Amino acid sequence: MAMAPIVRMEEITRIYQMGPTQVEALKGIDLSIDEGEYVAIMGPSGSGKSTLLSLVGCLDRPTSGRYFLAGQEVSTLSDDDLARIRNRRLGFVFQSFHLLPRMSALRNVEQPLIYARVPPAERKRRATEALERVNLSHRLHHAPNELSGGERQRVAIARALVNEPALLLADEPTGNLDTATGEEILRLFDQLHQRGTTILLITHDPDVAQKAQRVLRIRDGILVGSDDPEGGS
Ligand SMILES: Nc1ncnc2c1ncn2[C@@H]1O[C@H](COP(=O)(O)OP(=O)(O)O)[C@@H](O)[C@H]1O
Ligand SMILES: [Mg+2]
Repeated sequence: MAMAPIVRMEEITRIYQMGPTQVEALKGIDLSIDEGEYVAIMGPSGSGKSTLLSLVGCLDRPTSGRYFLAGQEVSTLSDDDLARIRNRRLGFVFQSFHLLPRMSALRNVEQPLIYARVPPAERKRRATEALERVNLSHRLHHAPNELSGGERQRVAIARALVNEPALLLADEPTGNLDTATGEEILRLFDQLHQRGTTILLITHDPDVAQKAQRVLRIRDGILVGSDDPEGGS
């Protein structure tokens, strides 16, 4: 029997109320992502990419439609339940890294485990392992300002992976990096995908998107087709 997809969205809309006017940022999104897939969503500025990623990432709720994450309907959950699901099931990587400045790489990666109340010794062991997976074993005790941009993003990726998330979400993960460093980060995503991590990446950059296994395009809040020969979604 086929497994339930990690992500299943049905007719998702998101309307922002701006005083008297409404901004229809998403106009009926159907999206399905299977375990182990590496999907990129590409679209121009203002097309709804970040709005969609916030919804997939349980940082926001849809105006209408249904969203199932790993089989569980999450569109109607409370803030507390959504926070718990984010911590247990999802890993986030952002353009601007979002690391805690005065803490070592190791402490940064331990943060999601502190929130999940994992005991200190296990926390340290798992954070060290996550940093090994992104080839940073030699930088455990460096603070963000003692690391290069690419190393900072690798710390952020280790932090995103430390809870063994069902899905890794990345919003323009190479946007603040030079081309060579960006390519190094994309090679790391490729490695993680090959080892079984499910990845959803959003970007405006076709060169970044084409590294994924399946590319979807978004325009004016509508997903407009896939280059997947099997017609994935
Ligand atoms: N918090 C918000 N309030 C009102 N409008 C918003 C908000 N966030 C985004 N929008 C609008 O929704 C549309 C999609 O935005 P966004 O998802 O940020 O696009 P992208 O990430 O592709 O640049 C844009 O028209 C944007 O102006
Ligand atoms: Mg955006």
